Amino acid sequence: MKRIVILISGRGSNMEALVQRCAVEGWPAQVVAVIANRPDAAGLRFAAAKGIATAVVDHKQQASREAFDDALRTCIDGFSPDLVVLAGFMRILGADFVRHYEGRLLNIHPSLLPAFPGLHTHERAISAGCKLHGATVHFVTSELDHGPIVMQSVVPVRADDDADALAARVLATEHVIYPQSVRWFVEGSLAVCDGRVTHRDGQSQWLVG
Ligand code: GRF
Repeated sequence: MKRIVILISGRGSNMEALVQRCAVEGWPAQVVAVIANRPDAAGLRFAAAKGIATAVVDHKQQASREAFDDALRTCIDGFSPDLVVLAGFMRILGADFVRHYEGRLLNIHPSLLPAFPGLHTHERAISAGCKLHGATVHFVTSELDHGPIVMQSVVPVRADDDADALAARVLATEHVIYPQSVRWFVEGSLAVCDGRVTHRDGQSQWLVG
């Protein structure tokens, strides 16, 4: 059984989708802990109710970014993870941290990377007049919102969309592509070569939402 640790900062709907799909589909994996950088992260309640270990490493209690990264790493490694999943985790992690989890650290970002790294992706997609938008699951590198792409979802941008409407449409696809990507990882179905991720059996690594 592969051991998964999930990091969240707030609502945790992607974490919920992962926990549920893992249980329902019987993945060869277990979510062993959910860790938040904010004590008020709502997703912690869901995890605790499911009997999953929870922990808080509060960035505000740490003297520096490096101290936070070290404390977080210590906390995560206490659960001996095979995979660390960033699910709406809103802190930038340092290069040493990222290197420590190289090849076993996944993130989901609400845009079609490499377009729109960073924040406010839905507003930016609307302002740019994009006709398509989406989400990306990728392995994490030390460059923000960058790294080998596991899966992407695409949704239309409608003329009357505001950021909330577009975010909701994208989020619904996140709840499909993130569990799918994590399942492939724990099943050992992903190969990374020259910065490109392929599925060993050639499964489609995209979703049209
Ligand atoms: C998601 O849109 C995720 O892509 C982004 O932050 C949001 C988190 O939502 N990084 P949730 O906490 O998983 O509900």
